[in-house]
Amino acid sequence: MNRVGIFGTSGMAREAGDIAWALGLEPLYVARDEAELRAWCFPAKVILEQDVDQYADIPFVIGIGENNIRRAVAERFKDSLSFSNLIHPSATFGCGQRDVLEQCKGAIVAAGARFTSGITVGDFCIFNQNTTIAHDCAVDSFVHVAPGANVSGSVHLKQGCWVGSGAVINQGSNTDKRVVGENTMVGAGAVVINDCEANAVYAGVPAKRIK
Ligand SMILES: CC(C)(COP(=O)(O)OP(=O)(O)OC[C@H]1O[C@@H](n2cnc3c(N)ncnc32)[C@H](O)[C@@H]1OP(=O)(O)O)[C@@H](O)C(=O)NCCC(=O)NCCS
Repeated sequence: MNRVGIFGTSGMAREAGDIAWALGLEPLYVARDEAELRAWCFPAKVILEQDVDQYADIPFVIGIGENNIRRAVAERFKDSLSFSNLIHPSATFGCGQRDVLEQCKGAIVAAGARFTSGITVGDFCIFNQNTTIAHDCAVDSFVHVAPGANVSGSVHLKQGCWVGSGAVINQGSNTDKRVVGENTMVGAGAVVINDCEANAVYAGVPAKRIK
């Protein structure tokens, strides 16, 4: 059985592992340090990050939900490892959209995610279970869309932003996309009806800036 390396040992990493199994790949988890290794009690092989270069012949993904940490790992290993995508077989795609995802590096697309069409996607994004990304969205790198979030058409998710579980981002237009700013966090269950500034936290219905 072919292997895929998965950075992380948390729930997000194990979710990525479930996608790997569904694709007929054996996950090889990567613990950051001895403490994380000792805490591992899951029936699958785990190695230490310091030994990862011994496995440079297999592809990797970064199963770490926190965008900044995922970005730091990607930066650390950009020259020594190759990163692939993990796309659950139950994810569905509109016309031409699967090819767009396949061109990405390090994308994790969980069970039940749906992309319609005309969507651009950067590297190392996570689209969690049952998310929907509608037509003509632009998703930059290191974005995380949490389970059950619905991103309407013509939305621009800027680099490093986080869309919380069950949140809704209302639609923009082709000439004026609805923007979630860089590194901004949208809380669980929020309904975003206006653009969100960068480096902020938004929550509520309708979503307001809380930090
Ligand atoms: C919005 C969020 C990022 C805020 O986290 P935080 O910065 O730690 O904020 P706090 O918990 O200190 O809450 C600050 C205020 O916002 C309110 N608040 C927090 N989350 C909220 C939410 N999702 N919707 C509405 N209000 C919320 C709190 O009640 C608190 O209000 P108060 O000041 O009147 O007491 C966080 O609560 C959240 O929703 N995270 C997303 C979780 C998620 O989607 N997980 C998916 C895992 S894959």
